[in-house]
Amino acid sequence: LDSAIRVKPLQLADSWKKQQVEDALKKIHLTGAQVLRIKEVFHSEVERGIHEQPSSLQMENTYIPELPNGTEEGMFLALDLGGTNFRVILLELSNGALIRENVKRYHIREELRLGCGERLFDFLAECVSDFVRSQNLGGTRLPLGFTFSFPMIQKGLDVGILLTWTKSFNCPSVVGRDAVQMLREAINRRGDTHVEVLAVLNDTTGTLIQGAVLDKKTAIALILGTGSNACYIERADRVQHWEGQRHGEKEVIIDIEWGAFGDNGVLDFIKTDYDRKVDENSLITNSFTFEKYISGKYLGEIVRVIVVKLVEDCVLFGGTVSDALLTTGAFTTSFVSLIEQDTVGNNCENTPEILDKLGLSYNADDIAIMKYICETVSNRAALLVSICTATLLERLDRPDTTIAVDGSLYKYHPRLKSWMNKYIHLLAPEKKFKLLLAEDGSGKGAGLVAAIALRLKQRFSQ
Ligand code: GLC
Repeated sequence: LDSAIRVKPLQLADSWKKQQVEDALKKIHLTGAQVLRIKEVFHSEVERGIHEQPSSLQMENTYIPELPNGTEEGMFLALDLGGTNFRVILLELSNGALIRENVKRYHIREELRLGCGERLFDFLAECVSDFVRSQNLGGTRLPLGFTFSFPMIQKGLDVGILLTWTKSFNCPSVVGRDAVQMLREAINRRGDTHVEVLAVLNDTTGTLIQGAVLDKKTAIALILGTGSNACYIERADRVQHWEGQRHGEKEVIIDIEWGAFGDNGVLDFIKTDYDRKVDENSLITNSFTFEKYISGKYLGEIVRVIVVKLVEDCVLFGGTVSDALLTTGAFTTSFVSLIEQDTVGNNCENTPEILDKLGLSYNADDIAIMKYICETVSNRAALLVSICTATLLERLDRPDTTIAVDGSLYKYHPRLKSWMNKYIHLLAPEKKFKLLLAEDGSGKGAGLVAAIALRLKQRFSQ
């Protein structure tokens, strides 16, 4: 296992520099033994979470009891809150197929992302009105699916109590409150639309639903974007957390919230000083440990922290930093993807451009080291995601599983997918699987979930 998961060693004529870099990255390279231990720990945290025992994994029941069945019909609104932009989407479905989609993006200012909850939800409601007006749908009754991509405690398909904020949001007054209720209240305060919030869901859930429409074998969905998370289809009889009525469901979708994996210390054996620093510099510290190893919001920052250390040690850039390099968040994950493109294509176009942008003076060694750091940090992320995905595959009692994936990191990183194919196969050799890009699950999936919610409502009111 050790050799199969290692990236190729750094090629550098200067043996002192080479040694310094290898020493600095030693703990980022996972060993085969560590990989197997993470796999065991993840399996045990999943088991504990699903049985309501203390675990860093929330394993939340999403209350979505069935997948689209091809009868979904009509116009639906979808809201997508979680990433950089807030989106309002109109979806028209006919026989389960999407026949029209209109989208509008709204930027959420930092003062709203980090301020008072009512103001955030008033803004969301304002965007909904603006959108509905722009579509000339002011008088139309519109069922809505709300993709709220944060950890929630669900007590039904339309109840989502925020557990904690993650990524770039932190409005403390919303924690512990029902996001659906807050949205409904804000919409009612305006009273200028006929929007009915029927369902709240996570982006992974939307991706699973959208994946299931594209490929019936879909049973796992991953988000590898600003944040990271996974959900999967679990046997209903294994799930204890199920309040309210049961209607004979055989399967349910479980939102794992794997971003929080390790928040209870179970992953401390792989934590490096760089990871500690990234956590210290983050919006909400001591939280979402796993997400901070793998997701788009943090990969670039891990690289930056390593680079700063190597400059301080006079290994990189002749020991001279730039202001940009010292700024938290200035080295984005898109830079990592671009530098990785150079490595994969065996050329050197993007790396110098990025170093110029950051105001750094560099030579050929610096470029080789930068590429190596990005490769090592990306490879660790690919491994970690693959370990957990392989564990889920083994958990499912299916001969062949499609894994729906979405998110900017997955889409733009040039070799995450090929690494994942290799590592998942290595770690779950008995299982047949396919990675399927299911774009915009948070939009399309939300429309489909609203349609399912409407169907259930009509079925149970009969
Ligand atoms: C964060 C959120 C989670 C979401 C993920 C991807 O981890 O807590 O709910 O699915 O980001 O957007």
